[in-house]
Amino acid sequence: MNLAVVGAQWGDEGKGKIVDLLTPHFSIVARYQGGHNAGHTVLVGGTRFILHLIPSGILHPGITCVIGNGVVVDPKALFEEIETLARHAIAVGDRLRISDRAHVILPYHRDLDLFSETRRGDRSIGTTSRGIGPAYEDKIGRRGIRVGDLNDPSALGAEIRDNVQARNRLIGGEALDWKLVLDDVLQYAERMRGWVCDTSLFLAHAMAQGGAVLFEGAQGTMLDIDHGTYPFVTSSNSTAGGVCTGLGVGPRAIDRVLGVAKAYTTRVGSGPLPTELSGALAERLRESGQEYGASTGRPRRCGWYDAVTVRYAARINGLDALALTKLDVLDDLDEIRICTGYRCRGGVIEEFPADLSLLAGCEPVYETMPGWKRSTRGVRSLADLPREARAYIARLEEASRVRAAIVSTGSDRDDTIFADDGMIVSRP
Ligand code: GDP
Ligand code: IMO
Ligand code: MG
Repeated sequence: MNLAVVGAQWGDEGKGKIVDLLTPHFSIVARYQGGHNAGHTVLVGGTRFILHLIPSGILHPGITCVIGNGVVVDPKALFEEIETLARHAIAVGDRLRISDRAHVILPYHRDLDLFSETRRGDRSIGTTSRGIGPAYEDKIGRRGIRVGDLNDPSALGAEIRDNVQARNRLIGGEALDWKLVLDDVLQYAERMRGWVCDTSLFLAHAMAQGGAVLFEGAQGTMLDIDHGTYPFVTSSNSTAGGVCTGLGVGPRAIDRVLGVAKAYTTRVGSGPLPTELSGALAERLRESGQEYGASTGRPRRCGWYDAVTVRYAARINGLDALALTKLDVLDDLDEIRICTGYRCRGGVIEEFPADLSLLAGCEPVYETMPGWKRSTRGVRSLADLPREARAYIARLEEASRVRAAIVSTGSDRDDTIFADDGMIVSRP
């Protein structure tokens, strides 16, 4: 059985923990979009790993990790990550495959990302400044460099020269030397060569031999370039649809889709967040949930659980179930709210709108539930949860129109409730 794990909110839902937890059921973990803008945290035996570009399955020996054609690869970031893993005695060895069709992030993409953010002024997106958007722009603009192109230095040189010259004309200031960019990437190309292949073909062979694949989403539904809060989004399809285009697998290869959602909501960067809190309550969630970006360290904006958003994610991704994370973060609260709709122009809308100006005029409609005021940290069965916590989960499932098959009660692998084993996979 192949499973897609996607973010159901604005990213950082805890996908890394859930992917790591489920990895023993699979032989391959494959990323299909995004790049090192992602920061997926996995806690193993007290050691905290943050995976950016390499699939979160890498921590399990014997698992092969695939970086698909839909991913944008910064070779420098890739090797930094490999070195960090090596310092913790995790050897990538021959367990990595990188698509020859994946696009490469080069230093001018990072410059262009920063330039574009500065130019937008108070309308800036709040990107991770990793060059993600400009690399995807080059891909769509048909001037991108693919991993496979690094084998042909002569053709590559002309393309990089043109791209660097365009960057220099646009940004001004100190010019970038295209020959240095070329030399640099060729050195990385040499080191990457053993991992590069046609990953669509690799996956097809593996699946034909009965191998099960976990498709690991980065970012979240509301950051999807098509379905998110455009333009405050990332530049790829982070939703389940991206699995097919980003890996070259057919839609029938996806047997189940699991959405990861926090028991509240966070967002890092600019753009709408209808249930956003401010003041002491926001600070409390931020501190107890340690809501600081895994990639950039930026404080995350925090708010109540928004069932409108998760309902939308359930539809867009065809979610079979949710993995509900960070329930324990709500342990101390007297009351907890769930947003079930948006009050807008005299009525209530229940579907997430495309129009951000409409959204700006909306007020969340809340239901208030009693808190449980007891620690749920590390609880491993539904029966051991306080009655109020079970009621909160039940109401949240109902309002989101999707069941929670997994409830996470802490960062560790073991801090997990398998509420419905059959819906996803059987327990390891
Ligand atoms: P991702 O990008 O979706 O993988 O999520 P991040 O790693 O960016 O952020 C999630 C954070 O929450 C990480 O620090 C995790 O270790 C942590 N986390 C995951 N699940 C839980 C949970 O159930 N409870 C608590 N307290 N922390 C969790
Ligand atoms: P994971 O996989 C949360 C946000 C950025 C910014 C917007 C565009 O860890 O959940 P980009 O650099 O992609 O052009 O930035 O998207 N963003 C994320 N927010 N989690 C992520 O990844 C994110 N990746 C990008 O903050 O608002
Ligand atoms: Mg993250």
